[in-house]
Amino acid sequence: MDSEDRPITPSHGLPETHSSPEEDKSVLQIWGKSSLKGHVTISGAKNSALVVMAGALLCPQDCRLRNVPSLADVSRMGEILASLGVKLTRQGDVLDINASYIGQSTAPYELVSQLRASFFVIGPVLARLGVARVPLPGGCAIGARPVDLHVRGLQAMGADVHIEHGTVNAYVRGPSRRLKGAKIYLDYPSVGATETLMMAATLADGETILENAAQEPEVIDLANFCRAMGAKIQGAGTKTIVISGVPSLHSADYAIIPDRVEAATFLVAGAITQSEISLSPVIPDHLTAAIAKLRAIGALITPESPNCLRIAPGHGLTATDIETLPYPGFPTDMQAQFMALLTVSEGDSIVTETVFENRLRHVAELNRMGADIRVKGNHAVIRGVPTLSGAPVVATDLRASAALVVAALAAEGKTTIQGLHHLDRGYENLDTKLQKLGVKLQRLQGDSTTEVETAPLTPIAPN
Ligand code: EPZ
Repeated sequence: MDSEDRPITPSHGLPETHSSPEEDKSVLQIWGKSSLKGHVTISGAKNSALVVMAGALLCPQDCRLRNVPSLADVSRMGEILASLGVKLTRQGDVLDINASYIGQSTAPYELVSQLRASFFVIGPVLARLGVARVPLPGGCAIGARPVDLHVRGLQAMGADVHIEHGTVNAYVRGPSRRLKGAKIYLDYPSVGATETLMMAATLADGETILENAAQEPEVIDLANFCRAMGAKIQGAGTKTIVISGVPSLHSADYAIIPDRVEAATFLVAGAITQSEISLSPVIPDHLTAAIAKLRAIGALITPESPNCLRIAPGHGLTATDIETLPYPGFPTDMQAQFMALLTVSEGDSIVTETVFENRLRHVAELNRMGADIRVKGNHAVIRGVPTLSGAPVVATDLRASAALVVAALAAEGKTTIQGLHHLDRGYENLDTKLQKLGVKLQRLQGDSTTEVETAPLTPIAPN
């Protein structure tokens, strides 16, 4: 191990994970009405990195992951893997994982409770060890988020699974302690359940067929990572995934896909400020629904190269309706940001959230900034207003925080955003990226007005 390769602890290379939201007193101040200019680099996908890190638990050899974003959630997943006995070293955006020895089959509650995605370890640990105990992740700001589809699928593969004292206990009987292939129909194309069962099936005895599976790009990325380790998986990205179990997997070197949600957030930032910017790397196919809606609203989007997009203003912003759906439908993770855009788009829009039951909490904060939004059940009716005005607002969840950032870019005056622990979970170096595009902002730490290093008051000259 040379001096550069260091085992992962929170302080090595990965952002500090705010121990608790209560301790997160930092605020982001954004001066609006700025026009953006230049190019922004898109980071690796959070929702792929997290599950691929869990997937590395399937492999008894070294795995190297590239393009891994520096995010609070990635730090937490690293801590959870380390608590199971996994060795992790990080250098820049390269993460080396060695899960040859998994000393623990129980994931610690204090870590799992802070990161829902940590529940994804149940599939790989059960597949490797024949036993796994993972605390129920519990609900979060956007919904109850049960794991019944994960549990039912593992039971169909022969595991005894019972929930006791808030923990999911899974156990495979028999001498081999090996899961068995099974035909599983998912009542809902859950991303997490598809990923958990696909990982578990890679080492199972026999063939598993997942019907009504999730088709998200992150599911495909996980399947490609598992195939790079020697797994036999077909049909990822379609409604039917077939996995032929193998006795073991081998080391792999894999690069995570770009983050389509971060890319869509910057496209919305360009549209809401009527600016011209470009962004890469992106996979345009992953953004089909978002691009279609942005064009319907009036933005001009052109491919600059196979992995680079340019957005430019068209003739103003016009209302449109959006309904969130599983992929390839319109992503729920982009709903809040698009709602912010529709607040200043001429006419009435209806946004319907069908994936999560409580994902309209950003409405109150957008209305605080002068938006005109009414909510009825899972529908929000947005009446476009000429402009928003800066105000003190509080982020309630990850994508809500992104919506407040893009709204602030278009608002008159200064907006002060609290609850940045949400933002830092999913956006890498957002402050610096926005400053490079010409945004005037500063991040203030704690109760004092001391600025932190990312906060030169005047914007950095756009490249
Ligand atoms: C993943 O969450 C993403 N998270 C979410 O992104 C994303 O919003 C979601 O997929 C949908 O696209 C990660 O990948 C880490 P689901 P996941 O299982 O897997 C219900 C972000 O902002 N359901 O597809 O938890 C569930 O309650 C985050 O980056 C069950 O009922 O999503 C929800 O209503 C937020 N039983 C719906 O399905 C189950 O067993 C979709 O959930 C599982 C899910």
